[in-house]
Amino acid sequence: MERELRCIRCGKTYDVFSSKTRCECGGLLEVSLKEPLHPSLKETFLKRRMSLKPYDQSGVWRYREFVLDIEEDSIVTLPEGRTNLYKKIIDGMEVYFKHEGENPTGSFKDRGMTVGVSVAKKLGFKITACASTGNTSASLASYSSHAGLKSVVFIPKGKVAIGKLSQALSYGANVLEIEGDFDYAMKLVEDASYEYKLYLLNSLNPLRLEGQKTIIINALEELDFEVPDWIIVPGGNLGNTSAFGKALKELYEFHFIDKIPRLAVIQAEAASPFYKAFKNDFKKFEPMKAETIATAIRIGNPVNYEKAVQSIKFTNGIVESVSDAEILEAKRDIDNIGIGCEPSSASTLAGLRKLRRSGVIRSSDKVLLILTGNLLKDPDTSINLHTGMIQGVSVTNRFFAISNLKDLEIILKKITSEVS
Ligand code: F0G
Repeated sequence: MERELRCIRCGKTYDVFSSKTRCECGGLLEVSLKEPLHPSLKETFLKRRMSLKPYDQSGVWRYREFVLDIEEDSIVTLPEGRTNLYKKIIDGMEVYFKHEGENPTGSFKDRGMTVGVSVAKKLGFKITACASTGNTSASLASYSSHAGLKSVVFIPKGKVAIGKLSQALSYGANVLEIEGDFDYAMKLVEDASYEYKLYLLNSLNPLRLEGQKTIIINALEELDFEVPDWIIVPGGNLGNTSAFGKALKELYEFHFIDKIPRLAVIQAEAASPFYKAFKNDFKKFEPMKAETIATAIRIGNPVNYEKAVQSIKFTNGIVESVSDAEILEAKRDIDNIGIGCEPSSASTLAGLRKLRRSGVIRSSDKVLLILTGNLLKDPDTSINLHTGMIQGVSVTNRFFAISNLKDLEIILKKITSEVS
């Protein structure tokens, strides 16, 4: 399968392994497949699940015709992408959760990172780099160490959840804590990557997005290619939004699916430049200073904006915004059904609720929510939320400090009386 990098702004093309992350004109690059793929590949994808080779077991490389042609011994895989799809009734509605928090480092980032780090290794880079709100840094650190490469991560001071920071450090990244937000760190790392020959692995890297397309391919395969009406995803740097639109376009144009689901991208209210642009029919885009408890999506100037606009247009999609309180209520409910996720992922359910209230989504619609990160990523927020330390979100207190046997008896009687 032949592919090349193509600038979405001026159309200039580059070799797929050119290591470019932007066109000379400054535009975003995307991978373009030169020939169509045949839908009979669906069976090949399923058959590979029986193979014992790590790259056939990977829920990314199992779909390699959609991802990248690269020799087997360059592939750095853990293997990722073997995540579950859960069908749950929530608010009286049947909903599918695709839990990308079940990836090896606990977020969807591993699907892109296996591709990005494999290419870094093949091209002979010695150091990988990214700016990150946390998850990319954890994933980059892990995959780079697996490949024997060094990594450098730029993170915004004080705004990375503890689980993610502990991963980046443990896996051996050089952690550069920046006085500033993610958007500033992103600018610094992009400049540094040119100057110091670092392989940049933010979602600006078009090859990483080819890996993230498999979230959609994998979820649709689990639904037997019976396409949902809606796919709901959080929006930060808009890498997933871009990758999902591209995946759906390819699947539709190559006749793997006969209907295009609508994308609903959800942002936190105070970190919602994409939502504001959507409301304005994408006539104007203004970066903003971002703030939200969902630190993963605390982003005010998403690098993939132009690609994400294409995704919304192609899927007749929408963008919605939700408050931090709505995000935390949704997190409480996803946690309580035994699935659990980090705050940013819960924006999907908060968004679904808001879109149902406004009548955009009906209870008979088939809806797929993408849970992007694991519950354990942000234990501080979970503990604060579930012990009632956060104002404005009601939780059933189930934390009891027991200092004597009398208290123990009272509490146990109360718990058992709830089920009788
Ligand atoms: N959910 C989680 C758990 C994330 O970590 C991110 C982004 C997003 C959603 C937003 O995805 O950028 O594709 O729109 N995290 C990046 C990071 C920015 O550095 O870990 P997006």
